[in-house]
Amino acid sequence: MKGIILAGGLGTRLSPLTKITNKHLLPIYDKPMIYYPLQTLINAGIDDILIVTGGNHAGDFLRLLGNGKEFGLKHLNYTYQEGEGGIAQALALAEHFSDYEKIVVILGDNIIEGSVICAVKDFKKQKEGAKVILKEVPDPQRFGVAEIVDGRVMGIEEKPEAPKSKYAVIGIYMYDSRVFDIIRTLKPSGRGELEITDVSNAYIREGTMTHHFLEGWWSDAGTFESLHRVSNLVAQGGANKKDL
Ligand code: G1P
Repeated sequence: MKGIILAGGLGTRLSPLTKITNKHLLPIYDKPMIYYPLQTLINAGIDDILIVTGGNHAGDFLRLLGNGKEFGLKHLNYTYQEGEGGIAQALALAEHFSDYEKIVVILGDNIIEGSVICAVKDFKKQKEGAKVILKEVPDPQRFGVAEIVDGRVMGIEEKPEAPKSKYAVIGIYMYDSRVFDIIRTLKPSGRGELEITDVSNAYIREGTMTHHFLEGWWSDAGTFESLHRVSNLVAQGGANKKDL
C-alpha cells in the first residue's frame, strides 16, 4: 500500500503565521508539523510516500525532508497542487503515483498519539472499498461527522450544525484504486472545494465502507486553538507511539 500526505493549502485560518511559510512546516513543540503525519505512515508500515504540497513555500519541503533519510526512507516523492481546490482535488494529483494500488491518505495537519497499524492491516485484507477512522470529540461540528446505525457508518456530514453523533472522521483515509474515478464525478461544495467527505460518502452508498475507532488522542492543527493544544499534548507525552 502507498501513502499520501496532503500538505497544500494556504492555511488562512493561521494567518499571519502562514504568510511566510506553509502551515505544515510550523512547529508542533519540537518538530515541524509535517514530521508527525510522515511518522504516522512509517509506523503503519508504509514507506512508499508522496507529499502533495502547493503555495509559495513548496521548495522548503524538499530542503527539510530531502529523500527522507532522517526517517529511514530511501526515497520520498513530491508533487505540486496549483491553487486551492480542496482535499479531494489535491488527492487527485496522486493518481499517477498510486499505480492503482490501495492508498492511505493523511492530512498534513493531523497528529495522533498512537498508531493506525491495526486499521491499515485490516484494510490490506479488505477486498475493496474504503475505511475511515473515527474519534469521539467534544466539538464534532468542526469536522466531518459519522452517522452510525447498527454498527455501520451510514453517512458523513461535513461540519454539520446539528451533528448526528460525537464521532469525528479523522484525517486518515484508506481507499481502493477506484477513488480517482470517484473524484472525477465530484462537484465543488458550498465552500468551492472538492470535499473528501463526498469521496467517502460514495463508498458508503456503495456499501463498501468500513471504520475503525482510534485509540489515544487525535488533533488537527489548523486553528490557533488546535495548534496550541496539540503542541501541549506532544510536549506532555509525545506522539506517534507504537504501543499505547
Ligand atoms: C477536513 C475534512 C474533515 C475532517 C478534518 C480532519 O476538514 O474536510 O471532514 O474531519 O479535515 O482534520 P478541514 O479542517 O480541512 O476543513
